Amino acid sequence: MSAANDVTPTGAKANEATLNLTAPNGSAAPNFATRAIHAGDAGQDPHGALTAPVYMTSTFGFDSVEQGAARFAGEQQGHFYTRISNPTQDLLEQRLASLEQGEAGLATASGMGAISATLWSLLEPGDRVIADITLYGCTFAYLDHGLRKFGIEVEFVDCTDLDALKAALSDNTRVVYFETPVNPTMRLMDIAAISDLVHDCDPSIKVVVDNTYCTPALQRPLTLGADLVVHSATKYLGGHGDLVAGAVVGDAATIEQIRLVGLKDMTGAVIAPLTAFLVLRGLKTLQLRMERHSRSAQALAEQLSMQPQIKAVHYPGLSDNPYFGLCWKQMEQPGGMIAFELKGGLEAGMAFMNRLKMIKRAVSLGDAETLCQHPASMTHSTYTPEQRAEHGIAEGLIRLSVGLEGVEDIWSDLLQALEG
Ligand SMILES: Cc1ncc(COP(=O)(O)O)c(C=O)c1O
Repeated sequence: MSAANDVTPTGAKANEATLNLTAPNGSAAPNFATRAIHAGDAGQDPHGALTAPVYMTSTFGFDSVEQGAARFAGEQQGHFYTRISNPTQDLLEQRLASLEQGEAGLATASGMGAISATLWSLLEPGDRVIADITLYGCTFAYLDHGLRKFGIEVEFVDCTDLDALKAALSDNTRVVYFETPVNPTMRLMDIAAISDLVHDCDPSIKVVVDNTYCTPALQRPLTLGADLVVHSATKYLGGHGDLVAGAVVGDAATIEQIRLVGLKDMTGAVIAPLTAFLVLRGLKTLQLRMERHSRSAQALAEQLSMQPQIKAVHYPGLSDNPYFGLCWKQMEQPGGMIAFELKGGLEAGMAFMNRLKMIKRAVSLGDAETLCQHPASMTHSTYTPEQRAEHGIAEGLIRLSVGLEGVEDIWSDLLQALEG
């Protein structure tokens, strides 16, 4: 067994990169880290403030009734009410669109706000949405108990099985929805293969990907053929565990539809200007943080998989993981999330969690702090035990969001809790 200071990270592409001062392919486009700091900020502040001002206002004055009418009619650019747009929200939306390489973005009050505003806008009674068998618990509840109530057909299909997905596509299918990596089981979906399959069948079907686990620093689904990306910005995008927010990015026409229908009229899930400011601040360090989360998670997953108390470690950066190849095909790095099971199942897992000292027992993910939670009793308690069995969520599964602390300290806490 390794001593704590033997925890050395391996496997993360970007960490081995040497400083290269030549832009790839001679491209003039600013790179990701630069866009995370600058995209969209041209001429933001009349006083030249470098940090984007927070427009703490619910409404905006008009020069004349005619101007107000023109703005309401969409004939003239300009803000009129913060539930529809606000300069601080605007900047965040432009920056997220740039990072996801989409035409437009929409910031929302929460990840569930982004998901519900998107699906309310795209679906009508009689339409069908196909979703992967495993989803974040409240997304599953929204589809299973929420949308079904309004006459929308919801079918859960294992989206890693392309034949099953193809068989499920029907004339009334309007949306195919999945997460990758999946919360909490860490399965990966082949975004390009799914998008091709769905669009070959019907180009108007929207492929919607929840990119919360990766962020655009590690994976950009729109460049792989997906139509829309949704996020819980509460997690890595904000990055500090001090806010709740969400986002959706895609083509300009669909984002406008989601803004004016799903957000303005149906959910009202509007991000507060101060929260938008905090997400903008988080984005400035996103790439740095994702590299560190990923590097530490790789080292910890390797160590965990060698421990005698462990039954299985689910982390796509492990060379024997079934998604290892796909991970390096569509992700920059395997990310900061690990799921694992102890040999003693549920009881051993609970005892392990209760022995943790520095690591917090808490839901959410993507914070500076390492967080550990038990999906069956917490984030995925919206599934019945039968549904969890059917949807592949083991009762004893433990989810670890690897934080930014020293990796040796995270490991020594995990080790003492395992050996306890
Ligand atoms: C993958 C994923 N999507 C969406 C959400 C919902 O986000 P929020 O809590 O910001 O509403 C979560 C929350 O944990 C999540 O993990």
